[in-house]
Amino acid sequence: MTSETGKQISIRNAVPGDMDIVIALDVGQKEEKQAYWQGIFDHYVKRGRKDRIFLVAEVDAAVVGFIVGEVRAWEFGSPPCGWVFALSVSPRFREMGIGKRMFDEICACLKKIGVATVRTMVDREDRLILSYFRGMGFRSGRYIELEKQIV
Ligand SMILES: CC(C)(COP(=O)(O)OP(=O)(O)OC[C@H]1O[C@@H](n2cnc3c(N)ncnc32)[C@H](O)[C@@H]1OP(=O)(O)O)[C@@H](O)C(=O)NCCC(=O)NCCS
Repeated sequence: MTSETGKQISIRNAVPGDMDIVIALDVGQKEEKQAYWQGIFDHYVKRGRKDRIFLVAEVDAAVVGFIVGEVRAWEFGSPPCGWVFALSVSPRFREMGIGKRMFDEICACLKKIGVATVRTMVDREDRLILSYFRGMGFRSGRYIELEKQIV
C-alpha cells in the first residue's frame, strides 16, 4: 500500500533479524534495553504463537516501525482481550499513516483470534501517544489503574 506521501508501506511479521532496528526505534527509557528486547523476541517472535503478535512496518524494504501485542485472558476478571503494549515509528516517517496501518493490522490479527476489545495503557502526560490512541478510537475503559509507593 502507498502512504499519503507516495511511499510504499508494507506490514509483516517480525523476524529475529529485526531486533537491532527495533531496539534503535524504541523510544523508551528502559534500563537493559538489549535484555528486554531479547526476552520479547524470544517470546513473541521465535516461539511464534498466534495470540502473540509482533509486526513491523517497512518503507522501501527498510523497517521504520513496530507494534507488539497479545491476547490476555482473565486478568482482573476480564474475558480474553487484546493488549497493545509497545509501538514506535521512526521520527522521519511519522504522520504518514504508518502508526494507523500497524494498528489496523494488529486489530485484524486480534479479530481473527476472536477478541472484540483491545486495551493499552498510556502515560497521562504523554500528549502524543494519547492523541494517537484517541485517534485510533480508544476511550476510557471499565478498569482503572491503581498504584502505591512502597519504598
Ligand atoms: C505515536 C506514533 C506511533 C504515531 O505514529 P505515526 O505513524 O506518526 O501515526 P499516524 O501518522 O498513523 O497517525 C495516526 C494518528 O495519530 C495521531 N497523531 C499522530 N501524530 C500526531 C501528532 N504529532 N500530534 C497529534 N496527534 C498525532 C493522530 O490522531 C493521527 O490520526 P490523523 O492523521 O487522522 O489525525 C509515533 O508518533 C511514535 O512512534 N511516537 C513515539 C512512540 C512512543 O511514545 N511509544 C511509547 C508507547 S509504547
